[in-house]
Amino acid sequence: MKPANATIIDVIDETPSVRSFVFDLSLEFTPGQYVMVWVRGVDEVPMSLSDHNMITVQQVGDATSAIFELAPGDTVGIRGPYGRGFDINNPVLIVAGGVGAAPLAPLAEAAHGMGYDVLTLLGARTRDELLFQRRFEDAGEVMVATDDGSAGFHGRVTDLLDRGVVDRCIHSCGPEPMMYALLSMLDEQQRGNAQFSLHRYIKCGLGICGACCIDPSGACACVDGPVFYGSELAGSEFGRYRRGADGVRIRV
Ligand SMILES: Cc1cc2nc3c(=O)[nH]c(=O)nc-3n(C[C@H](O)[C@H](O)[C@H](O)COP(=O)(O)OP(=O)(O)OC[C@H]3O[C@@H](n4cnc5c(N)ncnc54)[C@H](O)[C@@H]3O)c2cc1C
Ligand code: FES
Repeated sequence: MKPANATIIDVIDETPSVRSFVFDLSLEFTPGQYVMVWVRGVDEVPMSLSDHNMITVQQVGDATSAIFELAPGDTVGIRGPYGRGFDINNPVLIVAGGVGAAPLAPLAEAAHGMGYDVLTLLGARTRDELLFQRRFEDAGEVMVATDDGSAGFHGRVTDLLDRGVVDRCIHSCGPEPMMYALLSMLDEQQRGNAQFSLHRYIKCGLGICGACCIDPSGACACVDGPVFYGSELAGSEFGRYRRGADGVRIRV
């Protein structure tokens, strides 16, 4: 698939380290699906859609720094949307950490639009880094946790979970240690009800190159995911290691 040309029409500072880029393409998507964003002359990287015409980016390296340089009028190439998004199951529990809130804000809005009961546990390092808090509040109840205690509960977002909440249908995206801690709290039945969006190194996005294969099943995160049920991840590499650009294992 050739990338479609997209012109940036707005740039929004969401937090000190996260910006949203609104483009002039409107895409039909399921929350959790991603696009491949081609920053000409730099790299092509996967980004979740945070709205039908928007990506929300945390600056971590070369490609994301190049995206941060973009201004209204600049262009990128967009392929997708790709992959398996979230099934939206009621009652909804969203567990979001950091920039992992990007695919979950449109999920909260879609679930609210369907009349579902939405509870969000939103975590970040500090109050300033809480992403899309307002969007989640407009869709239902929100409980906040920050690592430094500057807003909400002082601690990890997974510390907000109690048994009653865990029995809801979990939809999660965030740092892998956070999601792994969450998976570890669930029994077999609850794992079958919980979905996690994985970040793996994605090159082709088409299930061809093998860069994103998950041990031991060989499922491709790019087409079989990035969203997987907990029952599919139990006993896999999830929470232990992933592979970098060269295919070598990296501890998560
Ligand atoms: C399905 C999916 C959805 C994502 N959605 C978002 C999002 O909404 N917002 C956001 O800020 N980030 C998102 N990411 C992560 C984002 O793709 C990486 O942060 C980005 O590729 C880093 O590129 P870089 O050149 O800036 O950094 P690098 O210095 O190249 O790498 C920094 C980190 O990103 C990883 N990375 C680099 N290239 C890729 C790649 N092609 N695929 C996967 N990981 C890579 C590296 O292994 C490393 O851990 C998503 C990743 C996936 C797989
Ligand atoms: S990125 Fe190529 S198979 Fe998944």
